[in-house]
Amino acid sequence: MKVFLETYGCQMNEYDSELVRSILKKENYEFVADESGADIVMLNTCAIREHAHRKVYGRVHSIRHARGKENPVMIGILGCMATNLRRDLLEDRSLKIDFIAGPDSYKRLGQLIREACDEGQKSYDVTLSEFETYADVYPSRKEGINAWIAVMRGCNNFCTFCVVPYTRGRERSRSPENITEEVRRLVAEGFKQVTLLGQNVNSYRHETHDFAYLMDQVSRVPGIERVRFTSPHPKDFPDRFLDLMAVNPKICKHIHLPLQAGNNRILDMMNRTYTHEEFMDLVAKIRRKIPEITLTTDIIVGFPTETDNEFEDTLHIVAAAGFDSAFTFKYSERQGTMACRKYPDDVPEAAKTERIMRLNELQKEITFKKNLAHIGQVHDILIEPSCQDKPVTHTVGRTDGNKLVILSRNGYQTGEMVKVKITDATPHALKACPL
Ligand code: 5AD
Ligand code: SF4
Repeated sequence: MKVFLETYGCQMNEYDSELVRSILKKENYEFVADESGADIVMLNTCAIREHAHRKVYGRVHSIRHARGKENPVMIGILGCMATNLRRDLLEDRSLKIDFIAGPDSYKRLGQLIREACDEGQKSYDVTLSEFETYADVYPSRKEGINAWIAVMRGCNNFCTFCVVPYTRGRERSRSPENITEEVRRLVAEGFKQVTLLGQNVNSYRHETHDFAYLMDQVSRVPGIERVRFTSPHPKDFPDRFLDLMAVNPKICKHIHLPLQAGNNRILDMMNRTYTHEEFMDLVAKIRRKIPEITLTTDIIVGFPTETDNEFEDTLHIVAAAGFDSAFTFKYSERQGTMACRKYPDDVPEAAKTERIMRLNELQKEITFKKNLAHIGQVHDILIEPSCQDKPVTHTVGRTDGNKLVILSRNGYQTGEMVKVKITDATPHALKACPL
């Protein structure tokens, strides 16, 4: 059977789609690049983004419509929306979905498809597991220089705005040996960089081993040039880890450090477990130990009851922390979360828009300044694959700190490490010539 798989949302979902490909290929399913020729369309959904529910239903209808009655297709929903959708599926018989698999049920996908096919019944498995890590599945990855590896799954933090602990369940980690074994195999396949992935990656714990131990082990795999990680929580940065980062040349000097808000009352309501003073102490410590660090962040504006003055605190902390870039979001309610149950979404849309615009404006200035400060510096950049669908006009790579660099001339191999001098900067990228 031919399968078309579409992925929404975060990197973990992209990774899960690689797991799904691997699991189903073993069962002789074939993956196709065009939905019109597929027997099965699967949508790997995300619940963090706005209006995900409506979008997925819209997509299901448009697929059904495009195929018409004479050319039917099976449709399956995977991922974070699965748990919510199960209720709709059972209650609404007219819903045009054939099977549903939650993030911990991908090993049962073949069976779910067969049940839906043979018995014509709607099948689903959305059980969340305390143990499933897919440690025994080798993802079917796209070629490139970077391989993602999920080292832990789930989240125990319950930030009040976030649906992840409900859609992906509790934290669990793979063993360090299992992970380093996979890194060895990736190096043999030609990958130069690995990015360790987890909803809360630095909460990684396997028996007595913590995240610092894991990063150290991974960085020792012969042939690996760069090790990255995402996304951490500010609460889990022991000195041992920062000291390792400072001295280990394989560990890239970039930390994505989600702030979420700069006001203590809002941080408390979000259950982030730190104050802005503690966050800034951590930033200062990181900069002291690793002066060349690149810091990026996530910020939510318009959390329930956030006042204009409290939002000013966020601007203040953003300026003080000096992030290299920020992903910014307007608060939007997620069913089932504590914030949704306890606090009405009472900041007007216009206020959220104004706040996010001001925040983006400020961050753009800071990013530009940070980029300009690179001019004249020498960096090693790892050459990235060029975009397939566009004619190659220039070569791009990334610094250790994950800044995009555009090279003044072509002719480099993907995966090559090149020493360059930064000659210019824009708010989005650096420009460089080879030394
Ligand atoms: N509303 C807005 N942004 C959210 N995020 C997570 N949940 C929500 C929500 N309900 C943002 C957080 C998180 C990032 C991945 O998505 O900033 O760090
Ligand atoms: Fe969501 Fe907070 Fe867990 Fe991140 S740490 S996945 S924001 S609950």
